[in-house]
Amino acid sequence: MLRKFLVYATFLMLLLSSSLTAAASVNDNPVNEKVTLTYYGQSAFMLSHGNTRLIFDPYLSKSPWKAANADEIECQYILVSHGHQDHLGDTVPIAKRTGAKVITFNALAGLLKEQGCDVVPMDIGGQRVFDFGYVKLTPAVHGSGVPGGLAAGFIVNFYGKTIYFAGDTALFGDMAFIAKAKVDYALLPIGDNYTMGIADAVDAVGLIKPKAVIPMHYNTNPLIKASPEEFKKVVEKRYRIPVHVMQSGGTLVL
Ligand code: NI
Ligand code: MN
Repeated sequence: MLRKFLVYATFLMLLLSSSLTAAASVNDNPVNEKVTLTYYGQSAFMLSHGNTRLIFDPYLSKSPWKAANADEIECQYILVSHGHQDHLGDTVPIAKRTGAKVITFNALAGLLKEQGCDVVPMDIGGQRVFDFGYVKLTPAVHGSGVPGGLAAGFIVNFYGKTIYFAGDTALFGDMAFIAKAKVDYALLPIGDNYTMGIADAVDAVGLIKPKAVIPMHYNTNPLIKASPEEFKKVVEKRYRIPVHVMQSGGTLVL
């Protein structure tokens, strides 16, 4: 009986000490933590590393995918590619509640500042260093949704991972210059009608030459119905570059 108890007690202590060690290393050594990417549908993604979180185009409360509750999002940075509602989404309430910095092109930054957001105004071609890495605004061939601005994409370096978030865009030849950033993950729209469809997004992969691709901006409404599996099949066959089709609310370790 005593022996059985001792074995049990030792097991419990081991379990406790290992979980304490794990918890301590999370807080003491965030450099060793992994970068993760979570998808909420349309073009809404969250990058995380330790306690640092950055969200792209937080279209959440009105998204038919209902992958996340905007009131529960915690982040320090919000990147907004343009002013259309399926991208600007819940930016203002999230920014005001969390105090997150909103990084976007000048014309939209001005409007968001008037609404009480803490903004970082940038513009196409500009790059800036942040504590997580850097952000560079790229062109996007698409309406900006606000007067006097140009829609943007982003190259984001986040704790050593380089992500190209294309925003809403048509295919354009200068995507070839984005290859110079040595992109780890390219997030590309495939839904057609408002942006590139599958065929053009496949050509975009050939210009950007990323290490991996994630499709976005599809199947949230009937006008942008597309098969991410078909896109995956073509890209993997043509370029031997892996395509990760993310589920609603799914997370990928980058
Ligand atoms: Ni748009
Ligand atoms: Mn859109």
